[in-house]
Parts: sequence; structure tokens; C-alpha cells
Amino acid sequence: MNIELTMTPKQREVLESTADITLFSAGRGCGKTAMMAIISILNMMKNKRVLVINTTYSRLKDSSFYQTRKFLGKMGIPYQSNLTDLKFYSGQNGEIIHVSADNPEDIRSYTSIDVIIFDESASLSEDCWKLAIPIMRDTTDGNFKIYVVGTPPASENHWVAKLAKREDVKVIFGSYLDNPFNSEKYTRMLEKEYEHYPYDFRRRELFGEFIFTEGGASLFDDFRIEQSTECSGQNEFPIVCGLDIAGPGRDMTCAVISRGNHVLGIYIRKTTNEISLKHFLRELFTIYGFSILRYDSTGLGTMIVFDLPSSVLITPVNFATAGGERFNNMRTAMYSHLRRKNGIFMHPDIYAEHAEALLLELKATTIEEKENKKVAVTKKEEIKKKIGRSPDRADALALAMSHIEVKRTKPHIAPRVFGGR
Ligand SMILES: Nc1ncnc2c1ncn2[C@@H]1O[C@H](COP(=O)(O)OP(=O)(O)OP(=O)(O)O)[C@@H](O)[C@H]1O
Ligand SMILES: [Mg+2]
Repeated sequence: MNIELTMTPKQREVLESTADITLFSAGRGCGKTAMMAIISILNMMKNKRVLVINTTYSRLKDSSFYQTRKFLGKMGIPYQSNLTDLKFYSGQNGEIIHVSADNPEDIRSYTSIDVIIFDESASLSEDCWKLAIPIMRDTTDGNFKIYVVGTPPASENHWVAKLAKREDVKVIFGSYLDNPFNSEKYTRMLEKEYEHYPYDFRRRELFGEFIFTEGGASLFDDFRIEQSTECSGQNEFPIVCGLDIAGPGRDMTCAVISRGNHVLGIYIRKTTNEISLKHFLRELFTIYGFSILRYDSTGLGTMIVFDLPSSVLITPVNFATAGGERFNNMRTAMYSHLRRKNGIFMHPDIYAEHAEALLLELKATTIEEKENKKVAVTKKEEIKKKIGRSPDRADALALAMSHIEVKRTKPHIAPRVFGGR
């Protein structure tokens, strides 16, 4: 059969690898999944049984299965498929089977597999790897091929990292720039998106390099807090209060008052009940006349009715809810927004009292890519384990500085710019 197929030079290199185990470590959008679709198809046409493993059923369906079907169409190959089981059949024995790593034990049930493909391998557990090897016994012609594909893991102890060091494993690196099928717009979007992320994270996710950061790469490694006695030029921005409310088991509430890139005040106050919390807010409003209040409403159940004028825009933010297409949750979206500022300013008095503590909390905030391809910051509990306390100041700061700027019609009450205890 004469088939029409265009491959990128990187994909050709992977296809031509003669090693039993090929590790394709490549950046976002390099063409990894498409490559695996092509390899699956070419093997199916040789009457081989191919097993594709990906993180979840939905990733298999929307990514692996979807791309394979697209390429089957493109290549004009006759095939049958079963959408529920995510299987393709062609020829006498040719078969492509898709298995989700949600349930690694399922892998065990297959036999006589000639080719195994691990897609998004950094998000697959070592169990998947261990369970998959025995099913390669009894292959059609005594040969087998294994492809381990994905952006690299963050930890040196990950099974993919260990594999990369093995002499019998052929490692092929690729970057997001190696795929001419990506539009210019997509390429620029990727660059913009990763611009503010930690260096190590960027090298892994865009270039597929093995750079390890045990415990994660800090999102705020080079974030700067500078001292400044004036807040001029920031007047076009509204004054915002970010509030991290005392949760069960701790009774300190933290408020950060900001305007543009300036922190006007940081307050830590014991608020044992709703009355003392409202009192605290009323006090802050008298000082700053903020026009936006953003508070962490995670786990609060009901909305708090603050004793504030109706002109104040009050926004509860549930940290745990979805953060859009790219962020795993709202807390990550907020922190990413904060990170887009390269630095912030503080009056020397506030700096002296809070900068060190704030930086400690920010630097403990790392970023990782989840199975769903969204990024997530370190959970509060994890930060607590690392630094011995909850990141109250950082949460309040992120809340204050991630508001969507709204045009105010009413004038603000003249703020007292400095202060804060
Ligand atoms: N040989 C090819 N022919 C046509 N289109 C291709 C080819 N290789 C890649 N593409 C297209 O380029 C885009 C990116 O490829 P793909 O999704 O395979 O990349 P990836 O490395 O798996 O990305 P991610 O990191 O997001 O998983 C897709 O739209 C894919 O269809
Ligand atoms: Mg992919």
C-alpha cells in the first residue's frame, strides 16, 4: 500500500530508532502524540498488537485515540474501531488497544503485545511500567518495541528518569520548535505562557530536558520585593483588600491592602468569630477606603455579609474551584497572576516587618504540571509542612493583586498610604 505521510524530522528520527526501548523526551506540542499515532498505525498494518497507555480515559479518548483516528483517515487506511473500548482493528491481526493508567492492574490482562507506548509518561506511575513488561512475552515474531514518550519528570527518582540513564535505551530529545505543524500563534502563546515560570520547569516543558528540581521549582525564585516610600503613578488603580480568613484550628486572619504594584498595608489579626472579623474589616476600610474586597471563601459554606458600604465590590474566591483552561484551581490562577508582576513595592516600615516572612511563603510555592495538563501550585498543607506555618500573607497578597481591574465611578475615600501592623 502506498500511503501519504508527512513527518517532522524529529518524528522520523523516532521512527527510525532501532532500539528496543526508545525514550522520546520532548516539549509541549512537539508532536509526541501524533508520532505515537503514526507508529501505532504502521505497526497495526504489519499485523502487530499495539498497546497505548495514557493517564486517564479522557486523555486517551481526546488525545491518543482521536489523533490515531485522524491519521488513519489522512493515510486512507481501511480499519474498524470500537469507541467504547477505544480499539482499532485492521488486516488479519492488527490491533491498537488503548488503556488508561487510572487502573494499572488492567494492563495485566493483555497478552502477546508487540509494541507498547507510554504517552505522558511523567504522569504515569512506575506500576504501569512494571506491569507492562511481562505482557510483551509471546510477541508475533519474538521482537518487541517500547516507546516512552512525554515531557520529562521533575524528580530524578522517577522511573522515566532512571530509564533515561540506561545504556540500552535510546533517548531522543525534541522541543516545541521542532514541529512545523504548530501555528506561529500557538508557538508565541506557549512562549508567553511559560515566560514567568521557573527556569527548570520551562526547560522541561518546552525543551524536554532532564533538569531535576526535587520538591518542585519555586514560582517566585526571582520575584522581588522592593522598598519604596511613594506610591505615585499607581493612582489609576483601585485600592484592593485581599483577605485570608482564619480557618478552623487557627485564629489569625491576614489582610493585604494593595494599589497596583504597591502594598499599602499588611495586617495579621486574631479574629475568633465573625463579629471580630467584621470589626477588623470595618477598621481597615476606615483607614484605606478600599473599593474591592477579595476574600478566600474556601470551605466557608455561606457568604459572609460584611459591614461595608455597597460601593465596595466584594468577591469571594473559592481557591479549590476550577481556574480556567490552564490552571488547575483558582489559587493557582491567582498566584500566576501575581507572578506576572516581576516584583512589588512596599513602604520600608511594612518591608521591615513582613517582607522576609512573605518571601519565605512565596518561595515555598512551587509549580507542577498535573495529569490533566494544567498547572498547579503547592497546596497550603504542603507549604505548612515545608515552612511550619500556613502561607497567610502570600494568600492575602495573591488575592489582593489578582483582582480584575474595574473602572470606578465613585471617588475613593482618600487613603492613608502607609501603616499596617
Ligand atoms: N506528522 C504530522 N502531520 C500532521 N500534523 C501533525 C504531525 N505531527 C504533529 N502534528 C500536529 O501538531 C499538533 C501538535 O502535535 P501533538 O499533539 O502530537 O504534540 P504533543 O507533543 O503530543 O503535544 P502535548 O505536549 O500537548 O501533548 C497536533 O495538532 C498534531 O496533529
Ligand atoms: Mg501529547
